[in-house]
Amino acid sequence: MALIAVSAVPVVGAASSRDSAEMIVMDENIYMLDNGVSKLSISPMLTGKVALVTGASRGLGRAMALALGQAGADVVVTDLLSEDAPVDAEQLARYSVLAAHFASTDNVRTVATAREIQAMGVRSKWFQMDVGRPEDIREVVSQVTEAFGGVDILVNNAAVMDSLALLEHQTPEDWERDIRVNLSGAFHCARAVWPGMKQKKWGRIIQISSFTAEMGAFAQPGYGASKAGLLGLSRSLALEGARHGITVNAVLPGFIQTEAVSLHRPDMQARIRKRIAMQRMGRPEEVAALVTFLASDAAGYITGAALPVAGGADLFVF
Ligand SMILES: NC(=O)c1ccc[n+]([C@@H]2O[C@H](COP(=O)([O-])OP(=O)(O)OC[C@H]3O[C@@H](n4cnc5c(N)ncnc54)[C@H](O)[C@@H]3O)[C@@H](O)[C@H]2O)c1
Repeated sequence: MALIAVSAVPVVGAASSRDSAEMIVMDENIYMLDNGVSKLSISPMLTGKVALVTGASRGLGRAMALALGQAGADVVVTDLLSEDAPVDAEQLARYSVLAAHFASTDNVRTVATAREIQAMGVRSKWFQMDVGRPEDIREVVSQVTEAFGGVDILVNNAAVMDSLALLEHQTPEDWERDIRVNLSGAFHCARAVWPGMKQKKWGRIIQISSFTAEMGAFAQPGYGASKAGLLGLSRSLALEGARHGITVNAVLPGFIQTEAVSLHRPDMQARIRKRIAMQRMGRPEEVAALVTFLASDAAGYITGAALPVAGGADLFVF
């Protein structure tokens, strides 16, 4: 059972007519209100829930896995790459230049992330899992079900974003890889956890799309189309899941300062920041906070939504 503790922190100088703290209890959620309630900090509790995050060796996936563990969930950390699994460098380079780059650094932290989560006092397992291979997904979900009793929260985060070229230089293979990993991967993961969620009459599926789903992605047609496709998949599954207690939502990050984005040249990063209303990139934890909230009981009436975390990068800036 999830418990939401909302602690109210009065903002200095905020006008208030109340002198004392007040607690209002609604269902299983506790709302603690203080004097001059102007700022709420929400810590969703996910104790007893099992979350599976794809693409969690670094970046947003890792931040979300850590945040879900922090909120009390048992977390299954999965990624194409893992410190304890050997990679065929040539094959990996053919798959993705970004994957090949990271595999050759010490920035693959699938096992390390699971260990950090275990140190929080919750259970965690890691798996090398390619979301482009439905049979890998089914095998992992079956092992998680045996070990932890099922998957309650699925975060479809794994993606490739490195087929950067104008249309005439895009190959059919580039396009097919982007769709297979970014869109079909989410479909296969959802399909694998769906029967268990239906049986429990409770489930959360969170798709990590992108603000480019709505704005387009220059020189990334496969990426842009796959991220837009995730919105259609989310809304379709949201309709189906509504009668089974399963919510399905999409999160649309703007520019978030992950290891991958930090590979952009400094002058490109400066251009990007100028283009964002808040004039800064987001932090991975700022996306993880929304994902954790969507995973909780508090978000039980939110489904089929597409929620940007973009600091206004999706607004017109001049
Ligand atoms: N960082 C941003 O600015 C930004 C903006 C919008 C959307 N997003 C989305 O957020 C997510 C994470 O972004 P990030 O910046 O952390 O990127 P990233 O490239 O650092 O992370 C992607 C992760 O997916 C894994 N992966 C790649 N192919 C896989 C496969 N076939 N199977 C399993 N795992 C695979 C990678 O190993 C990596 O850990 C992506 O879905 C991305 O599209 C990011």
